[in-house]
Amino acid sequence: MIKILFVCLGNICRSPTAQGVFEGRLAARFDSSIFETVNLNDAFLIDSAGTAAWHIGKQADTRSQLAAKERGYDLSNLHARQVSDKDFAKFDYILAMDKANLESLQESCPRAYLNKLALFLDFAEGSEQEVPDPYYGGGSGFNQVLDLIESASDGLIAHLIKKSKR
Ligand code: 4NP
Repeated sequence: MIKILFVCLGNICRSPTAQGVFEGRLAARFDSSIFETVNLNDAFLIDSAGTAAWHIGKQADTRSQLAAKERGYDLSNLHARQVSDKDFAKFDYILAMDKANLESLQESCPRAYLNKLALFLDFAEGSEQEVPDPYYGGGSGFNQVLDLIESASDGLIAHLIKKSKR
């Protein structure tokens, strides 16, 4: 089983979007991909969390939910939680939305697991390294978040397919 954790600050905008988009695009690829012989839910565990505790238990931000829904992704079942120490052992990929999130993770991650940490946009096509925090910005920020996350999701799926063929 491949276990992936998406991490941002509040776990109400970017990382739930990453979870919903990645799950949606993975499900769309699953039929025709090399993963087809196994059940998606047996093959993957996908989750998201925030480095901060402010929004624990809350649903994704309404603006994130609406922007995602317009592209066919449902975030309504997701509720915010904070990253826990257990996550570092449990997940294979712990993918941060920005460099501040990555630094927070690096501070609490045991050394043996540091190689699990990366920026999510390392898997995207463009030159952007960070998914910008849309929380205090305007509506277009949420679509930019989706553009970046769709690209990184496709790149991560391609990476996982390539790796599984080795
Ligand atoms: P996220 O966005 O890290 O993408 O979930 C934020 C959500 C809330 C806050 C900051 C960023 N906040 O300051 O409450």
